[in-house]
Amino acid sequence: MSTQRTTVLTGITTTGSPHLGNYVGAIKPAIASSREPGMNACFFLADYHALIKCFEPERIRQSTLEIAATWLALGLDTNTTTFYRQSDIPEIAELTWILNCVCAKGLMNRAHAYKAAVQDNIDRGEKPDYELSMGLFNYPVLMAADILMFNAHRVPVGKDQIQHLEMARDIAQRFNHRYREVFVLPEAAVQEQAAVMPGLDGRKMSKSYDNTIPLWLTEKQLKKHINRIVTNSKEPGESKQADESALFPIYAAFASAEQQQTMVRSLNEGLAWGEAKKIVFEHINTELAPARERYHALIERPEHIEEILMAGAAKARLYSRPLIEQVREAIGISRLCSAK
Ligand code: TRP
Repeated sequence: MSTQRTTVLTGITTTGSPHLGNYVGAIKPAIASSREPGMNACFFLADYHALIKCFEPERIRQSTLEIAATWLALGLDTNTTTFYRQSDIPEIAELTWILNCVCAKGLMNRAHAYKAAVQDNIDRGEKPDYELSMGLFNYPVLMAADILMFNAHRVPVGKDQIQHLEMARDIAQRFNHRYREVFVLPEAAVQEQAAVMPGLDGRKMSKSYDNTIPLWLTEKQLKKHINRIVTNSKEPGESKQADESALFPIYAAFASAEQQQTMVRSLNEGLAWGEAKKIVFEHINTELAPARERYHALIERPEHIEEILMAGAAKARLYSRPLIEQVREAIGISRLCSAK
């Protein structure tokens, strides 16, 4: 029987400010899983992935700072986990090239994100590959390198990333088959909650829909955003269903089963939307307030965050360096004779 620890790994692309959907769907459950016994947790800032869609250097820098501060403010323990910036691990870029030579081009042709971009061009009367970069096309190979580099078993992701995990498995399998068994076949751990966390307008909470509630708003701003959640025109006293507005699912992502039941009952009994919003605000604010203070203290000290990231990279490379040596050895790129 193996006593090996389970490696859980996930990354967040550094293109924007973290919102409630990122918190509930990705960061909070990832931190919780890092505290389970027998877990080896690797969390990183996917800054090379950011280059695929963001051409504003300052925005990438700022987002890297904000997302790093977010993980730390929410209680990630960097002593027991490995927390790093993707671009600080040169072995990932090296592995990406090697995996590019293993990956079938046809596999990438089938990637949803690439196909959607092509379709979008065609719909707008452009050439299919108009303004598409090799980075966008290759994105899943870089993601496979992120995952395979640390032989991750479990990868918590949103539903939209399942195909990328299947591609990472496919690439790992091809490599293992062509050369020798080097890589673990990773599995997606899908966050159901992430799939249902709606934004202000009821569609999935996403930067691209401009319907997010940023995570680190002041109390006043948070209240304002919650007040903007779309409801219907039912009057106070009129019976309401929980699924008539995004308000309830947003609350549900934070509240216990019992609290959710109480809210459903109160709405059925005619609780005013405005009153329900007050309850939701109080609840979310209470959960976030202590971390909010830590976040603001951290963001004021980028040099402290930088130190943590450098230490994280050093720790990550204790794993990635020997692994890339194994890979190079397996493919025939290594010293001609062993060094004395
Ligand atoms: N592509 C992921 C996203 O957009 C982010 C990411 C990059 C990632 N590399 C990863 C997630 C490796 C999990 C594992 O959400």
